[in-house]
Amino acid sequence: MKKILVTREIPDAGMELLQEFETTVLSEEPPAREELLGAAEGASGVLCTLTEQIDEEFFEAAGDNLKVVANMAVGYDNIDLEAAGRRGVVVTNTPGVLDETTADTTFMLLLAAARRLGEAERIVRGGRWKAWGPKMLLGPDVWGKRLGIIGMGRIGRAVARRARGFGMRILYHSRSAKPHAEKEFGAIRLDLDQLLIHSDFISIHTPLTPETHHLIGERELKLMKSTAVLVNTSRGPVVDEAALAKALADRHIFAAGLDVYEEEPKVHPGLLELENVVLVPHIGSASFETRDKMARMAAENLRAVLAGERPPNPVR
Ligand code: DGY
Repeated sequence: MKKILVTREIPDAGMELLQEFETTVLSEEPPAREELLGAAEGASGVLCTLTEQIDEEFFEAAGDNLKVVANMAVGYDNIDLEAAGRRGVVVTNTPGVLDETTADTTFMLLLAAARRLGEAERIVRGGRWKAWGPKMLLGPDVWGKRLGIIGMGRIGRAVARRARGFGMRILYHSRSAKPHAEKEFGAIRLDLDQLLIHSDFISIHTPLTPETHHLIGERELKLMKSTAVLVNTSRGPVVDEAALAKALADRHIFAAGLDVYEEEPKVHPGLLELENVVLVPHIGSASFETRDKMARMAAENLRAVLAGERPPNPVR
Protein backbone atom coordinates (compact mmCIF):
# COMPACT_ATOMS: atom_id res chain seq x y z
CA MET A 1 0.00 0.00 0.00
CA LYS A 2 1.34 3.41 -0.90
CA LYS A 3 1.80 5.78 1.97
CA ILE A 4 0.34 9.27 1.72
CA LEU A 5 0.18 12.29 3.99
CA VAL A 6 -2.82 14.60 4.35
CA THR A 7 -1.51 17.63 6.23
CA ARG A 8 -4.84 18.91 7.64
CA GLU A 9 -8.26 17.39 8.27
CA ILE A 10 -10.18 17.87 5.04
CA PRO A 11 -13.84 17.25 4.10
CA ASP A 12 -14.92 13.59 3.84
CA ALA A 13 -15.65 14.10 0.14
CA GLY A 14 -11.87 14.10 -0.39
CA MET A 15 -10.96 11.46 2.19
CA GLU A 16 -13.38 8.98 0.62
CA LEU A 17 -11.26 8.97 -2.53
CA LEU A 18 -8.08 8.10 -0.65
CA GLN A 19 -9.09 4.76 0.84
CA GLU A 20 -6.67 2.74 -1.28
CA PHE A 21 -3.71 4.36 0.51
CA GLU A 22 -2.11 4.07 3.90
CA THR A 23 -2.99 7.58 4.99
CA THR A 24 -1.67 9.74 7.78
CA VAL A 25 -3.89 12.72 8.53
CA LEU A 26 -2.45 15.45 10.71
CA SER A 27 -4.66 17.67 12.86
CA GLU A 28 -7.36 20.20 12.01
CA GLU A 29 -4.96 23.02 12.91
CA PRO A 30 -1.80 23.66 10.84
CA PRO A 31 0.86 21.16 11.90
CA ALA A 32 4.04 22.33 13.63
CA ARG A 33 6.95 22.32 11.19
CA GLU A 34 8.73 19.41 12.90
CA GLU A 35 5.55 17.33 12.91
CA LEU A 36 5.01 18.05 9.22
CA LEU A 37 8.57 17.12 8.25
CA GLY A 38 8.50 13.95 10.36
CA ALA A 39 5.15 12.82 8.93
CA ALA A 40 6.27 13.42 5.33
CA GLU A 41 9.09 10.87 5.51
CA GLY A 42 8.57 8.10 2.99
CA ALA A 43 5.26 9.45 1.62
CA SER A 44 4.51 8.88 -2.08
CA GLY A 45 1.93 11.65 -2.13
CA VAL A 46 1.10 14.68 -0.04
CA LEU A 47 -2.26 16.45 0.01
CA CYS A 48 -1.59 19.80 1.62
CA THR A 49 -3.14 23.23 2.08
CA LEU A 50 -1.83 26.77 1.76
CA THR A 51 -0.72 26.81 5.41
CA GLU A 52 2.14 24.37 4.74
CA GLN A 53 5.42 25.56 3.25
CA ILE A 54 6.46 22.91 0.76
CA ASP A 55 10.09 23.77 0.14
CA GLU A 56 13.52 22.21 -0.28
CA GLU A 57 13.65 21.19 3.37
CA PHE A 58 10.25 19.50 3.04
CA PHE A 59 11.28 17.58 -0.09
CA GLU A 60 14.48 16.52 1.66
CA ALA A 61 12.45 15.25 4.64
CA ALA A 62 9.94 13.43 2.43
CA GLY A 63 12.63 11.61 0.46
CA ASP A 64 12.75 10.00 -2.97
CA ASN A 65 9.38 8.20 -2.81
CA LEU A 66 7.51 11.47 -3.17
CA LYS A 67 5.78 11.77 -6.55
CA VAL A 68 3.04 14.35 -6.03
CA VAL A 69 2.10 17.37 -3.94
CA ALA A 70 -1.63 18.09 -4.35
CA ASN A 71 -2.44 21.52 -2.98
CA MET A 72 -6.04 21.98 -1.84
CA ALA A 73 -6.08 25.57 -3.11
CA VAL A 74 -5.94 27.37 -6.41
CA GLY A 75 -2.98 29.48 -5.23
CA TYR A 76 0.31 27.62 -4.91
CA ASP A 77 2.71 30.29 -3.65
CA ASN A 78 3.33 28.02 -0.62
CA ILE A 79 5.12 25.54 -2.87
CA ASP A 80 8.65 25.87 -4.24
CA LEU A 81 7.96 24.77 -7.81
CA GLU A 82 11.62 24.75 -8.79
CA ALA A 83 12.54 22.44 -5.94
CA ALA A 84 9.63 20.18 -6.92
CA GLY A 85 10.73 20.25 -10.57
CA ARG A 86 14.34 19.33 -9.68
CA ARG A 87 13.04 16.24 -7.87
CA GLY A 88 10.46 15.32 -10.49
CA VAL A 89 7.57 15.87 -8.07
CA VAL A 90 4.30 16.82 -9.77
CA VAL A 91 2.44 19.75 -8.19
CA THR A 92 -1.31 20.18 -8.64
CA ASN A 93 -3.92 22.73 -7.53
CA THR A 94 -7.71 23.19 -7.52
CA PRO A 95 -8.63 25.79 -10.16
CA GLY A 96 -12.16 26.64 -11.30
CA VAL A 97 -14.19 25.19 -8.41
CA LEU A 98 -13.85 28.13 -6.04
CA ASP A 99 -14.33 31.08 -8.38
CA GLU A 100 -17.99 31.78 -7.65
CA THR A 101 -17.65 31.32 -3.89
CA THR A 102 -14.61 33.59 -3.76
CA ALA A 103 -16.48 36.16 -5.84
CA ASP A 104 -19.35 35.99 -3.32
CA THR A 105 -16.88 36.66 -0.51
CA THR A 106 -15.40 39.54 -2.48
CA PHE A 107 -18.79 41.14 -2.91
CA MET A 108 -19.65 40.53 0.73
CA LEU A 109 -16.50 42.47 1.74
CA LEU A 110 -17.09 45.18 -0.83
CA LEU A 111 -20.60 45.86 0.44
CA ALA A 112 -19.62 45.47 4.09
CA ALA A 113 -16.70 47.91 3.79
CA ALA A 114 -18.71 50.49 1.83
CA ARG A 115 -21.75 50.35 4.11
CA ARG A 116 -19.74 49.99 7.33
CA LEU A 117 -21.22 46.67 8.38
CA GLY A 118 -18.59 45.81 11.01
CA GLU A 119 -18.80 49.20 12.65
CA ALA A 120 -22.60 49.14 12.57
CA GLU A 121 -22.75 45.71 14.14
CA ARG A 122 -20.30 46.72 16.86
CA ILE A 123 -22.54 49.68 17.71
CA VAL A 124 -25.64 47.51 18.08
CA ARG A 125 -23.90 44.73 20.02
CA GLY A 126 -22.14 47.28 22.24
CA GLY A 127 -25.46 48.84 23.27
CA ARG A 128 -24.35 52.15 21.74
CA TRP A 129 -27.29 52.57 19.33
CA LYS A 130 -29.41 55.47 20.55
CA ALA A 131 -31.73 56.21 17.59
CA TRP A 132 -32.03 56.30 13.81
CA GLY A 133 -29.71 59.07 12.60
CA PRO A 134 -29.88 61.18 9.42
CA LYS A 135 -26.07 61.25 9.32
CA MET A 136 -25.37 57.98 11.06
CA LEU A 137 -22.97 55.46 9.46
CA LEU A 138 -23.10 56.89 5.95
CA GLY A 139 -21.04 55.26 3.23
CA PRO A 140 -20.77 55.38 -0.55
CA ASP A 141 -23.33 53.73 -2.81
CA VAL A 142 -22.10 50.62 -4.58
CA TRP A 143 -24.62 50.52 -7.41
CA GLY A 144 -23.66 52.45 -10.53
CA LYS A 145 -20.05 53.00 -9.41
CA ARG A 146 -16.79 52.09 -11.13
CA LEU A 147 -15.16 48.84 -10.10
CA GLY A 148 -11.47 48.37 -10.91
CA ILE A 149 -10.49 44.71 -11.08
CA ILE A 150 -6.80 43.86 -10.83
CA GLY A 151 -6.34 40.47 -12.49
CA MET A 152 -9.16 39.52 -14.87
CA GLY A 153 -8.88 35.73 -14.54
CA ARG A 154 -11.70 33.37 -13.59
CA ILE A 155 -12.34 34.96 -10.17
CA GLY A 156 -12.04 38.49 -11.56
CA ARG A 157 -14.67 37.64 -14.17
CA ALA A 158 -17.00 36.11 -11.55
CA VAL A 159 -16.70 39.36 -9.57
CA ALA A 160 -17.40 41.40 -12.73
CA ARG A 161 -20.58 39.38 -13.35
CA ARG A 162 -21.86 40.25 -9.88
CA ALA A 163 -20.87 43.88 -10.34
CA ARG A 164 -22.88 44.13 -13.54
CA GLY A 165 -25.95 43.13 -11.50
CA PHE A 166 -25.25 46.22 -9.39
CA GLY A 167 -25.03 48.37 -12.53
CA MET A 168 -21.31 48.95 -11.98
CA ARG A 169 -18.94 49.92 -14.73
CA ILE A 170 -15.90 47.66 -14.99
CA LEU A 171 -12.29 48.76 -15.41
CA TYR A 172 -9.54 46.16 -15.32
CA HIS A 173 -5.81 45.80 -15.21
CA SER A 174 -4.26 42.64 -16.56
CA ARG A 175 -1.01 41.62 -18.25
CA SER A 176 -2.90 40.75 -21.41
CA ALA A 177 -6.15 42.04 -22.91
CA LYS A 178 -9.25 39.98 -22.11
CA PRO A 179 -11.54 40.37 -25.14
CA HIS A 180 -14.22 38.13 -23.59
CA ALA A 181 -14.48 40.33 -20.50
CA GLU A 182 -14.51 43.43 -22.69
CA LYS A 183 -17.38 41.98 -24.73
CA GLU A 184 -19.35 40.46 -21.83
CA PHE A 185 -19.02 43.32 -19.32
CA GLY A 186 -17.96 46.27 -21.45
CA ALA A 187 -14.81 46.18 -19.33
CA ILE A 188 -12.12 48.74 -20.14
CA ARG A 189 -8.45 47.81 -19.78
CA LEU A 190 -6.24 50.40 -18.09
CA ASP A 191 -2.71 50.54 -16.76
CA LEU A 192 -2.54 50.15 -13.01
CA ASP A 193 -2.15 53.84 -12.17
CA GLN A 194 -5.11 54.87 -14.32
CA LEU A 195 -7.26 52.13 -12.82
CA LEU A 196 -6.40 53.28 -9.29
CA ILE A 197 -7.13 56.92 -10.14
CA HIS A 198 -10.50 56.25 -11.77
CA SER A 199 -12.03 53.43 -9.68
CA ASP A 200 -14.48 53.83 -6.81
CA PHE A 201 -13.94 50.23 -5.74
CA ILE A 202 -10.80 48.21 -6.35
CA SER A 203 -10.70 44.44 -6.06
CA ILE A 204 -7.53 42.34 -6.28
CA HIS A 205 -7.54 38.96 -8.04
CA THR A 206 -3.95 38.37 -9.01
CA PRO A 207 -1.75 35.48 -7.84
CA LEU A 208 1.19 36.22 -5.56
CA THR A 209 4.43 36.22 -7.56
CA PRO A 210 7.66 38.21 -7.18
CA GLU A 211 6.11 40.76 -9.59
CA THR A 212 2.87 41.21 -7.61
CA HIS A 213 4.46 41.37 -4.15
CA HIS A 214 3.42 44.78 -2.70
CA LEU A 215 1.80 45.70 -5.99
CA ILE A 216 -0.35 48.03 -3.87
CA GLY A 217 1.88 50.14 -1.65
CA GLU A 218 2.03 53.71 -0.37
CA ARG A 219 2.35 55.27 -3.84
CA GLU A 220 -0.56 53.28 -5.27
CA LEU A 221 -2.79 53.98 -2.26
CA LYS A 222 -2.15 57.69 -2.70
CA LEU A 223 -3.38 57.49 -6.29
CA MET A 224 -6.79 56.20 -5.15
CA LYS A 225 -9.78 58.44 -4.51
CA SER A 226 -10.36 59.47 -0.91
CA THR A 227 -13.76 57.74 -1.27
CA ALA A 228 -12.23 54.51 -2.64
CA VAL A 229 -12.80 51.08 -1.12
CA LEU A 230 -10.11 48.40 -1.55
CA VAL A 231 -10.92 44.68 -1.34
CA ASN A 232 -8.35 41.89 -1.25
CA THR A 233 -9.35 38.23 -1.48
CA SER A 234 -6.22 37.09 -3.37
CA ARG A 235 -3.04 36.91 -1.29
CA GLY A 236 -2.03 39.21 1.56
CA PRO A 237 1.47 40.16 0.40
CA VAL A 238 0.06 41.72 -2.80
CA VAL A 239 -0.79 44.68 -0.53
CA ASP A 240 1.72 46.43 1.75
CA GLU A 241 -0.30 46.06 4.96
CA ALA A 242 1.57 48.77 6.89
CA ALA A 243 0.97 51.25 4.06
CA LEU A 244 -2.70 50.25 3.91
CA ALA A 245 -3.14 50.71 7.67
CA LYS A 246 -1.67 54.20 7.34
CA ALA A 247 -3.79 55.11 4.30
CA LEU A 248 -6.95 54.01 6.16
CA ALA A 249 -5.99 55.79 9.38
CA ASP A 250 -5.14 59.00 7.46
CA ARG A 251 -8.37 58.67 5.42
CA HIS A 252 -6.46 58.61 2.13
CA ILE A 253 -9.04 55.98 1.19
CA PHE A 254 -12.50 55.40 2.64
CA ALA A 255 -12.36 51.74 3.64
CA ALA A 256 -11.02 48.28 2.94
CA GLY A 257 -12.24 44.71 3.13
CA LEU A 258 -9.61 42.04 3.69
CA ASP A 259 -9.74 38.26 3.60
CA VAL A 260 -5.98 37.73 3.32
CA TYR A 261 -2.93 39.05 5.18
CA GLU A 262 0.81 39.31 4.78
CA GLU A 263 1.68 36.95 7.63
CA GLU A 264 -1.43 34.90 8.31
CA PRO A 265 -2.78 34.44 10.90
CA LYS A 266 -1.12 37.66 12.11
CA VAL A 267 -2.84 40.90 11.16
CA HIS A 268 -1.02 44.23 11.19
CA PRO A 269 -1.85 45.77 14.61
CA GLY A 270 -2.62 49.11 12.93
CA LEU A 271 -5.49 47.47 11.03
CA LEU A 272 -6.98 45.93 14.16
CA GLU A 273 -7.46 49.38 15.68
CA LEU A 274 -9.39 50.83 12.75
CA GLU A 275 -13.15 51.02 12.25
CA ASN A 276 -12.92 51.48 8.46
CA VAL A 277 -11.64 48.03 7.61
CA VAL A 278 -13.59 44.77 7.55
CA LEU A 279 -11.38 41.82 8.49
CA VAL A 280 -12.25 38.16 7.90
CA PRO A 281 -9.92 35.15 8.33
CA HIS A 282 -9.16 33.86 4.78
CA ILE A 283 -12.62 32.41 4.16
CA GLY A 284 -12.85 33.24 0.45
CA SER A 285 -13.71 29.68 -0.59
CA ALA A 286 -15.31 28.60 2.69
CA SER A 287 -18.67 27.22 1.58
CA PHE A 288 -19.74 23.61 2.23
CA GLU A 289 -20.06 22.88 -1.47
CA THR A 290 -16.80 24.47 -2.58
CA ARG A 291 -14.64 22.92 0.13
CA ASP A 292 -16.08 19.49 -0.83
CA LYS A 293 -15.16 20.15 -4.45
CA MET A 294 -11.67 21.34 -3.54
CA ALA A 295 -11.02 18.28 -1.36
CA ARG A 296 -12.29 15.94 -4.08
CA MET A 297 -10.24 17.66 -6.75
CA ALA A 298 -7.04 17.53 -4.70
CA ALA A 299 -7.62 13.84 -3.97
CA GLU A 300 -8.27 13.06 -7.64
CA ASN A 301 -5.07 14.83 -8.63
CA LEU A 302 -3.06 12.88 -6.09
CA ARG A 303 -4.63 9.58 -7.13
CA ALA A 304 -3.99 10.17 -10.81
CA VAL A 305 -0.28 10.79 -10.32
CA LEU A 306 0.12 7.74 -8.08
CA ALA A 307 -1.69 5.66 -10.73
CA GLY A 308 0.89 6.80 -13.28
CA GLU A 309 -1.60 9.07 -15.08
CA ARG A 310 -1.52 12.73 -15.98
CA PRO A 311 -3.39 14.59 -13.20
CA PRO A 312 -6.37 16.77 -14.21
CA ASN A 313 -4.84 19.93 -12.70
CA PRO A 314 -1.06 20.06 -12.92
CA VAL A 315 0.43 23.44 -12.09
CA ARG A 316 1.99 24.87 -15.28
C1 DGY B 1 -6.97 29.35 -2.64
O1 DGY B 1 -7.55 28.34 -3.07
O2 DGY B 1 -5.89 29.72 -3.09
C2 DGY B 1 -7.65 30.13 -1.56
O3 DGY B 1 -6.90 31.14 -1.05
C3 DGY B 1 -8.15 29.21 -0.46
O4 DGY B 1 -9.30 28.67 -0.94
